[in-house]
Amino acid sequence: MSVKKNLAVDRTALAHKVRYALGHPGRIPPYVRRAARDRWLALHHPDHVSYYRAVMASDTRRSPEAAVGSRAHDRWLALGRLQFDYLREHGLTPQSRMLDIGCGNLRAGWRFIEYLEPGHYYGIDISPDILIAAKQTLADRGLQDRLPHLTLTKNLTLDFLPEAHFDVVHAHSVFSHSPLEIIDECLAHVGRVLAPGGFFDFTFDRTTGAEHQVLREDFYYRTETLAGLAARHGLEARFMADWESRGHGQSKLRVTAG
Ligand SMILES: C[S@@+](CC[C@H](N)C(=O)[O-])C[C@H]1O[C@@H](n2cnc3c(N)ncnc32)[C@H](O)[C@@H]1O
Repeated sequence: MSVKKNLAVDRTALAHKVRYALGHPGRIPPYVRRAARDRWLALHHPDHVSYYRAVMASDTRRSPEAAVGSRAHDRWLALGRLQFDYLREHGLTPQSRMLDIGCGNLRAGWRFIEYLEPGHYYGIDISPDILIAAKQTLADRGLQDRLPHLTLTKNLTLDFLPEAHFDVVHAHSVFSHSPLEIIDECLAHVGRVLAPGGFFDFTFDRTTGAEHQVLREDFYYRTETLAGLAARHGLEARFMADWESRGHGQSKLRVTAG
């Protein structure tokens, strides 16, 4: 399946909003509801992490699968498989020690947990609600014996994790919901936990035009911005061109020690 990426569009531009609304009238009421909810949450949670945690609490109450971006169960399964297959083809082995940043309710995580040696999967997330759903996924899949770690975090300093430990660090659909300071924080600290020869793969919503955000939930970045940020922290970023044909709306960068 291929997804057409509209790379140049600025979703905050009035002309785009009018065109989009005329083309998708059915999406106006849910958008208005979401905008009102988000404005209310933003008022009560000025910093991004607590704001997004509140968004996740509200979304997870309705459906954990929808909260991580999959409205139907078969899409949830397919998006997990997409991540798993790609990483398997690009360096993951059963012996890898993996850190999954923003693991959600283990859409892909359960597949990694099943595949990796026991204890080799470490999932972190800012949302206690989605981590409770993650434990349910683990139980539903009968993966208790794989003994994964699932840990709540409030930032991405990774200060509680050991140095030079992880061969694979992964963040799928996390930076697409993150302001630049959070990505910067992660890139400033991920090098410390990467094992020699390890890599950090993350997806992001790519624009070739003006960088912008929608409802403080979706953030669009230029590849050069994120690669430049990585370079400032002594890391090298490589655009994963073959991810583009996998049918996912976001793009992927692989970061390694420079
Ligand atoms: C769209 S979901 C994707 C979940 C999972 N990676 C997947 O693909 O199924 C984004 C997840 O990232 C988490 N998240 C958002 N910002 C985060 C941050 N700064 N640090 C860690 N997790 C974060 C959210 O709570 C949510 O579970």
